[in-house]
Amino acid sequence: MNIELFEEYESNVRGYIRSFPTIFDRAEGATIWDVDGNPYVDFFGGAGSLNYGHNHPVVNEALIAYIKRNGISNALDKATLAKHDFLLALQEIILKPRGLHYKVQFVGPTGTNGVETALKLARKKMQRSTVVSFTNAYHGHTLGALAVTGNELYHDSYYGVPLNVTKMPYDNYFDHDMDSVDMLRHYVEDGSSGFETPAAVIVESIQGEGGVNVSSAEWLRKLSQLCKEKEIILILDEIQVGNGRTGDFFSFERAGIKPDIITLSKSIGTGLPMSIVLMRDDVDVWSPGEHTGTFRGNSHAFVAGMVMLEHYWRDDVFSKEIREKGKQVEARFRAIHARYPDYFSDVRGLGMIWGMESSVKDFCGLVSREAFERGLLMETAGSEGQVLKFLAPLVITQEELDKGLDILDEAADAAVAKAKAGALEETA
Ligand SMILES: Cc1ncc(COP(=O)(O)O)c(C=O)c1O
Repeated sequence: MNIELFEEYESNVRGYIRSFPTIFDRAEGATIWDVDGNPYVDFFGGAGSLNYGHNHPVVNEALIAYIKRNGISNALDKATLAKHDFLLALQEIILKPRGLHYKVQFVGPTGTNGVETALKLARKKMQRSTVVSFTNAYHGHTLGALAVTGNELYHDSYYGVPLNVTKMPYDNYFDHDMDSVDMLRHYVEDGSSGFETPAAVIVESIQGEGGVNVSSAEWLRKLSQLCKEKEIILILDEIQVGNGRTGDFFSFERAGIKPDIITLSKSIGTGLPMSIVLMRDDVDVWSPGEHTGTFRGNSHAFVAGMVMLEHYWRDDVFSKEIREKGKQVEARFRAIHARYPDYFSDVRGLGMIWGMESSVKDFCGLVSREAFERGLLMETAGSEGQVLKFLAPLVITQEELDKGLDILDEAADAAVAKAKAGALEETA
């Protein structure tokens, strides 16, 4: 068994294996072991798909029981008991207590399928073709989702020009006081701006892949208000920062808004493939079978997702824990920033998503490598990988959190020492 096999047999497209070059095998909570038995604290969290951790005992127990009784696994979109129970839990535990009324569409099992569906549905509903998305946005890699994604690394004109999409500045994209919602309003209201009223605006309330950019509640409210006034569908992409990441189940709850469409994936299936689109009743303009796909009935994900909603979201204990742990992460990040102001330029986040930005090229990649060598998985985000991103499972124990943050401290010290000794010039 050796890691070179992947180089020989797997496409060049492989990514995270390059940041974390070992063969992983077992995982529990927020710890992963490789085949040699080395433990790694997981601050990567499956890019937001493992909010409930690896192999949660309640999930494992439910899945084993379901499989043992030969519960149906894939049923496309037929009615199943597993789907029935998941739908009921989502409505009763999450939506109704928040005064939210949405129909649920089960789509192909990845986030990008949800985004693709949301864009298509909004266009059908409004009978308009343009969509507004934001600078540094990340919505996935199918062609529609790619068109509303910012990072040029993923774009190439060979893939087709991202037609009918206008990019607007995200909140605080510019250093000065320009409010991009005011700008959007001006464009929509000015008949000679050359700007067509879009079918939809798609937005992340916190841009995860884009570099942990947190929009203000006020900005989100203004955006929602504008969309209402101008009859534009507001799509909230909750794929990375929903499912409790910010402390609330939905990350937009802090703004008190009610989007027209919500995309949800990653942790909704506890890391098993599942993606859903929530839509207001009147937005549900599909005709039967009009948007379909084989893998829309992953019963194991329904079972796992349902038990986690039951387990964590009946009261606010979990939310309080998330906020409390998030404060600890923030404090430790700020301490590192204060220790190395020449290397780190900003700390930002909310709940349990935190980012530490560096203005020194490739420095965060160096910290991530140093962390990996010491037993911590932590990825970088942002267009240049200039932000170290904390996205640990929300269920991380105090012991795992302390251990991971201690490793991060050491990794930052080691990276600064290496950078001072010229390590970054060597890799440039
Ligand atoms: C906000 C957001 N939208 C969409 C996606 C795409 O999800 P997937 O990778 O499952 O297609 C991601 C993935 O990171 C995401 O963060």
